[in-house]
Amino acid sequence: MSILVTGAAGFIGSNFVLDWIGAGLEDVVSLDKLTYAGNRENLASLDGCAQHRFVLGAIEDEALVSDLLASENVTAVVNFAAESHVDRSIVGPGAFIDTNVVGTFKLLDAVRRYWSGLSADRQDSFRFLHVSTDEVYGSLGPDELPFSENNPYRPNSPYAASKAASDHLVRSYGETYGLPVLITNCSNNYGPYHFPEKLIPLVIHNALRGKPLPLYGDGRQVRDWLYVKDHCGALRAVLKGGRPGQTYNVGGESERANIDVVKSVCDILDRLRPLGHNRTYADQITFVKDRPGHDRRYAIDARKLKSELGWRPLESFESGLEKTIRWNLDNSGWVERVTSGAYRDWVARHYA
Ligand code: NAD
Ligand code: DAU
Repeated sequence: MSILVTGAAGFIGSNFVLDWIGAGLEDVVSLDKLTYAGNRENLASLDGCAQHRFVLGAIEDEALVSDLLASENVTAVVNFAAESHVDRSIVGPGAFIDTNVVGTFKLLDAVRRYWSGLSADRQDSFRFLHVSTDEVYGSLGPDELPFSENNPYRPNSPYAASKAASDHLVRSYGETYGLPVLITNCSNNYGPYHFPEKLIPLVIHNALRGKPLPLYGDGRQVRDWLYVKDHCGALRAVLKGGRPGQTYNVGGESERANIDVVKSVCDILDRLRPLGHNRTYADQITFVKDRPGHDRRYAIDARKLKSELGWRPLESFESGLEKTIRWNLDNSGWVERVTSGAYRDWVARHYA
């Protein structure tokens, strides 16, 4: 018996799989298409581990997914597979519709067919956990209450709209077919294996190379940051104890303006890798053109997850950020291979 984790070679998926196997839980089959955001190296420490198998493939490949579900006796699916970068969705929304909407639909449908052939007991205990985002709720004003699970969906970017569509499809499979689905809507993650196109890893990378630290617009947009391992803990709790058909919001109660996030990165780097001569990394901060349709503020009300499932984040923003920066400093080879594109050679070598 195994769980199927899709998008397992990406940022959150790989952290989830590493933590899951580390905790000695069920075996894992990792499915990933290895787009530019997928990095097989993230799971390299599991090579040779009997509890883990990596499969190169797409969630929209219904034959492959059906085969994996049956041959691996899958008891739960955790769906991380997605196009995830808002800026890319503005430049090229098509891939976001293909994977996040059509891909999720095809995955759901393969899972529904597999699930309907299971015994009643196995149907009851089966779970389809869809990992989604707080961006589906749109943007908050400065004095508005954080997003609860009852907030209306008001996505503002093609990325957020595609995730909203996928959430609706997942919900409909629960209501219509009785598939035991769970949806989580999480705030901004940061931590190890974060692709350096997103704010925090980009700023760490650029700071260390003497490049500009780009802040969009006035830099006063607010995000609610959560250390990735705390997100993984929340997902384990939802998978174990979440009520089928329910949505759980996940967040770190760590609202920060982007400018403050970047200054915090600079402060930690000033301590860990001082530039000398009274210089600071903050001198590299540069204000650039704003992101179109840029959401001003996200904040999460995670009381449902806390009260029903007893989840709590273990890291504060400060402790998580320091761990993240130390990870980047200790794993400069990983960063180098990701930014040079060399990590993609793995696919060519391994599947030659
Ligand atoms: P990521 O971009 O780092 O990883 C996505 C992974 O999915 C990659 O490994 C990629 O190769 C894979 N993938 C893409 N298309 C695929 C397909 N068609 N079939 C199989 N695999 C495919 O993303 P992430 O930041 O790890 O996010 C994972 C999930 O969590 C996404 O669904 C995202 O919407 C959600 N989420 C992310 C955050 C965040 O802050 N990063 C916050 C909340 C929710
Ligand atoms: O809220 C959850 C979402 O968080 C996830 O669903 C997305 O997958 C994930 O990418 C993230 O989306 P954001 O757009 O919030 O993350 P990003 O790191 O791209 O940007 C964070 C903030 O920083 C945002 O307000 C835009 C700003 N920004 C970003 C970049 C890359 C900058 O000011 N400069 C930059 O160069």
